[in-house]
Amino acid sequence: MERTFVAIKPDGVQRGLVGPILTRFEQRGFRILALKMLTVPREMAEKHYAVHQGKFFYEDLVKYIGSGPVVAMVLEGVEAIKAVRLMVGATRPYEAAPGTIRGDYALTGLRNLIHASDSPETAQAEIALWFAPEEIQSYTRDLDRWIYE
Ligand code: PPS
Repeated sequence: MERTFVAIKPDGVQRGLVGPILTRFEQRGFRILALKMLTVPREMAEKHYAVHQGKFFYEDLVKYIGSGPVVAMVLEGVEAIKAVRLMVGATRPYEAAPGTIRGDYALTGLRNLIHASDSPETAQAEIALWFAPEEIQSYTRDLDRWIYE
């Protein structure tokens, strides 16, 4: 089992897509281990996107994630990091395949609805940045045996 971090960005919340996006992850079989809504303070946005500091789009990225409430979550499942990234789709929504979240709900480069960790190291760091250990549940569901066996 692997854990990954996902955030539905301010445009996803404003467009009323929290429910449809969560449903996709639940229906795929991921367990939601943590879930909360928050407005990201500037300092936290800078930490989250520290790896992009110095890039021409860094300032836009930091402002965008802090521009309204976001819904943050920790998901768990087999190969969660890769599988969730595939469900999210390409960074530029106009290049995202139909059937992916960005490919179905987004169109422009700057408003791509959702963030998902891209590696085990990033997932670990992002989960630790966004959630306190006591906010993350550990549990199984009766339906897991139908997904994993
Ligand atoms: S990189 O440079 O290849 O690491 O960038 P990439 O992985 O494609 O994207 C990293 C995050 O930066 C956002 N991004 C942009 N925002 C605004 N303008 C431009 N031009 C731009 N290019 C990339 C992209 O949406 C990623 O955000 P997250 O939240 O991680 O999905």
